[in-house]
Amino acid sequence: MKTSTRLRGPVINTELPGPRSRAIKEISEQYEPNASSEQVPIVWKNAEGVWATDMDDNTFLDFTSGVLVANAGHSHPRLVRAMQEQAEKAVNTYDFLNEWRPQLAKKLVEITPPNLSRAIVLSTGAETIETAMKIARLYTGKHEIVAFHGAFHGRTYGAMSVNGKRSSPGIKGFGPFLPGVVFAPFPYPYRSILCRGHEDECSERCFEYFKWIIETESEKDIAAVLVETYQGAAGSIIAPKDWLQMIAQWCKENGAVLIIDEVQASFGRTGRLFGFEHYDIEPNLLCLGKGISSTVPVSAVVGEEDIMSVLTPGSVSSTHGGNAFSSRVALENINIILEENLSENAARIGEILDARFRDMQAKYPAIGDVRGLGLVFGIEFVKDRETREPAPEVTQAIIDEAFKRGLVMIAPIGFYGNAIRVAPPLVITEDEALLGADILEEAIAAVVG
Ligand SMILES: Cc1ncc(COP(=O)(O)O)c(C=O)c1O
Repeated sequence: MKTSTRLRGPVINTELPGPRSRAIKEISEQYEPNASSEQVPIVWKNAEGVWATDMDDNTFLDFTSGVLVANAGHSHPRLVRAMQEQAEKAVNTYDFLNEWRPQLAKKLVEITPPNLSRAIVLSTGAETIETAMKIARLYTGKHEIVAFHGAFHGRTYGAMSVNGKRSSPGIKGFGPFLPGVVFAPFPYPYRSILCRGHEDECSERCFEYFKWIIETESEKDIAAVLVETYQGAAGSIIAPKDWLQMIAQWCKENGAVLIIDEVQASFGRTGRLFGFEHYDIEPNLLCLGKGISSTVPVSAVVGEEDIMSVLTPGSVSSTHGGNAFSSRVALENINIILEENLSENAARIGEILDARFRDMQAKYPAIGDVRGLGLVFGIEFVKDRETREPAPEVTQAIIDEAFKRGLVMIAPIGFYGNAIRVAPPLVITEDEALLGADILEEAIAAVVG
């Protein structure tokens, strides 16, 4: 087992990528299709806490958490132990019961609001979206799903069908998609043309438009409204409280199932255990994934009793879903997040980083907007503060410069590929967070300073 010694700073010993990393990259280029998103050229060998070491023993500060997975930090000793112990016992048991799946379901029910009383354990985030849409259709006997511009719910066909940003490479050319999807605007005060010049009315305007679209563009056969509490892929756009409350109320009044996709926003990421806790709303179905295990693929749909009761034997199941190994690791991970107060740490460090990023915004006109909640941020770069013209090249250059200095960040996100996503593991300390912010500022200064 690895030690838990914390490193004090990045160490870059070689050119990037170094020779051993290049050798792996060559194998990838020869044998894998060019299908993964383009990221900075780190080849991960070890990761511990908030630190990642590549094949050439260069060490980086991780501002990605993988892709918002490693909430409890990389290689948490308790998770390593749980994996080792369970690997020696039982791993896959299909739909046969194992010791851990029901215990994970129980835990998920216990930590979610009282209206949610049943949990299905699955493997991926997209699978939860497919499942939630199936359940909502079966329960309501209706077929339409309302989704939002800018949404990201995964890469399977059902999930792609409810994704916004349809010119993105994950969607374009793969259609046609599932019929019966109605798209409505997600409040994005910084760019939405519905809100320009009326930013403080963005919630009302978007909600009015939502109702108008349902009135005019749907068959008024709405099974569900599917919404994220913050849209990660669109640039960490955080839903305004009043807007999401209006949507939740509309669902109640119109018999539509409110599906909250918290595959990304849960398990402490936003400074609360679940993102929806910021909104005083209750989902009817809740989709979870990523940070649920901090490690291996696990996801879950947690739902209300009467909604889940429409399911019959064999209606939702999968080969790996709820296997003993993943379920045990997820359960241990949830206990770690609760016992180590990682949501609280995310809220505290998030505030510190927020202040730091806003200082940078005051200093660099290239930073158009800073959005954050807990430990997830979108920093949007523009060519001009007035026109808000997106600056995707600048954004990529900053990520590259930060990488050279030992800070790993995910490739640009957002409608225009002009936003940097900051999402470190929730175990990050204040010193580590500020060190990362300093490196980011150096990179910004190198590109636009
Ligand atoms: C909000 C949201 N929903 C669903 C998904 C899909 O999850 P997965 O990639 O595990 O299928 C993602 C993945 O990024 C996500 O961010």
